[in-house]
Amino acid sequence: MKSDASVSEGAWAAARTRLFGMRKNSAAAELTLDQARLPRHIAIIMDGNGRWATRRGLPRTAGHRAGVEALRAVIRESDRLHIGALTIYAFSTENWKRPGDEVSALMGLLLTYFRSEIDELDGNGVCIRIMGDVDGMPSPQREALRDAMARTAGNTGLKLNIALNYGGRDELLRAAKILARRAVEEGVDPDSFTRGDFEDALYTRGLPDVDLLIRTSGEMRLSNFLPYQLAYAEFVVVDTLWPDFDAAALREAIAVYQGRDRRFGGVKGSKEKKA
Ligand code: FPP
Repeated sequence: MKSDASVSEGAWAAARTRLFGMRKNSAAAELTLDQARLPRHIAIIMDGNGRWATRRGLPRTAGHRAGVEALRAVIRESDRLHIGALTIYAFSTENWKRPGDEVSALMGLLLTYFRSEIDELDGNGVCIRIMGDVDGMPSPQREALRDAMARTAGNTGLKLNIALNYGGRDELLRAAKILARRAVEEGVDPDSFTRGDFEDALYTRGLPDVDLLIRTSGEMRLSNFLPYQLAYAEFVVVDTLWPDFDAAALREAIAVYQGRDRRFGGVKGSKEKKA
């Protein structure tokens, strides 16, 4: 089948130029993406909710509410584009340090989100996986998260991973403990463990590596997000604050990704397999 590879070099360059300070309805919204080279796995650090609200004289929690709208649009667009997996950073293990009212508002939003979205997500075949310490969440949220995972477990559409009470270093330590336990309790020789065994002990078990990491609000940090899975990801950092990020912005970030030359440590044109 002929792939839809009609994005010109000029369009790539324009998309790159526009990346810092994207506008809604930009021409890039019309970019035709190369269907054969869509990222299989996109991860997003949804940053800038607080600043979005502060600039409007609103409480930070209004930024998080607006952020949920952006999230809805991005999930729908990822689904429409047939992206295999989308992993979003919703709440880190460090986010508990925020003021109590902001944490409560985020927990409330989470509950409202799952109650209001689960029918549509499930109906669209989205499979939800929570990455992080679900046991450490307050009990109504814990139940809602477990219900969402159980209800959508058999779905075969978009794999939506929501990092909640998540820390990348904790995830690596958890994986190390899973393998150590297998060595001790099942007598597995530690030297026999493969990279695949380690990857199976991560929350992203069964998913491909992240191809594209998007971070909004211009910050150039990883913030303890997916340190293992991002090893060969392409980073696209945009100045747009998360609540202003939309379907067009997602397509634009994918267009930039498609313009990148991925070498996986090799050299251009080499036929060697990636790491
Ligand atoms: C970062 O912006 C954003 C967060 C810590 C929370 C992200 C949460 C949502 C988008 C909504 C809730 C998610 C779900 C799944 C319902 P920030 O507050 O650090 O912004 P700032 O850097 O401008 O202060």
